[in-house]
Amino acid sequence: MATMADVARSAGVSVATVSHVLNGTRPVLPHTRQAVLDAVEELGYTTNTLARSLVTARTRSIGLAVSAISNPYFTEILQGVEASALEHGYSLLIADPHDDPEHERKVVQLLHERRVDGMIVAPSAEPRGLLAYLGRHDVPAVLLDRLVDAPDGGPRFDQVCADNAEPTSRLVAHLAGLGHRRIGLVAGRPGLSTTSERITGYRTGLAFAGLPYDERLLVHGDSESAGAEQATAALLSLAVPPTALVTANNAMTIGALRALRAHGLSVPGDIALCCFDDFAWADLFSPRLTAIAQPSRDIGAQAVRVLLERLAEPDRPARTVRLPCAFVHRTSCGCPEGASPRGLSSTSSPREEPSHDRRRR
Ligand code: HPA
Repeated sequence: MATMADVARSAGVSVATVSHVLNGTRPVLPHTRQAVLDAVEELGYTTNTLARSLVTARTRSIGLAVSAISNPYFTEILQGVEASALEHGYSLLIADPHDDPEHERKVVQLLHERRVDGMIVAPSAEPRGLLAYLGRHDVPAVLLDRLVDAPDGGPRFDQVCADNAEPTSRLVAHLAGLGHRRIGLVAGRPGLSTTSERITGYRTGLAFAGLPYDERLLVHGDSESAGAEQATAALLSLAVPPTALVTANNAMTIGALRALRAHGLSVPGDIALCCFDDFAWADLFSPRLTAIAQPSRDIGAQAVRVLLERLAEPDRPARTVRLPCAFVHRTSCGCPEGASPRGLSSTSSPREEPSHDRRRR
């Protein structure tokens, strides 16, 4: 394999000059620069990033740990992270913690041992081990999607997530505006902030519509399709079942649809359906799914931006970036094509919170 010294010899310049040309660290005369680039081409020289890392103590790599990578929501986040990392000259190392706290701690340690410059992690519902590790080793990290409380006296982390409560309340208000009085929620895995915030939004939407909260209408679908199928079946077997459903993520929408089909119910004729989380084929369902679209790619890109800012300025205060979602009005809610949404109008826009402690809100 050609070395930098080979390139320097072939171009008739010093190794330092080759380095300046390749790294853009100092202006080099055009004909010298061209001679270096020609030699690089001719010898097939590629940068030895390992050697460079030894000098700079930086690997120009980011570790990404997200569970459920096959879920389109997380796949799009990954695309956003990858595109943005590449744009800034960083490569990615990816791990899937499988939403398992022990595995999560292990993969984060592996990424750290690979000396990534920083990490982007979507924490599990039990993130204590993860947070302790990141804090103990002072790993520059951005938490994604699921917010965590800073441990007592422990470090706070930068966090990037979507708005969850307000968009969920919009779905409920919309269904209430269409006359529904018994609106069920298939909620996600307990312990995740996305779950609790969407439940808060559900309750706010009910309150806004003057509807009582009935705990029998809230079931947990464990954030997965199979769990949601069971949870929806339980809702449908209530003495007085709901006339409308809100599902709290894309996978649970699929599970809920399976349960509705098994019960011989049609949407929206027998039961209306609104979903948190849009996905590419949601408008191919019949009826087309009314959904909240999360800015998934942007969540990934923003996480990279926040991480690079943290690397550039390690002592800056931690902050939480929340991105707004969009209400995608289709027909599973029972509206005819082209109708206007009922209920709340959206007021959300991107916002940054200087630091994050949910207990103080
Ligand atoms: N969080 C947010 N949105 C989602 C998730 C999640 O874990 N899964 C599918 N959509």
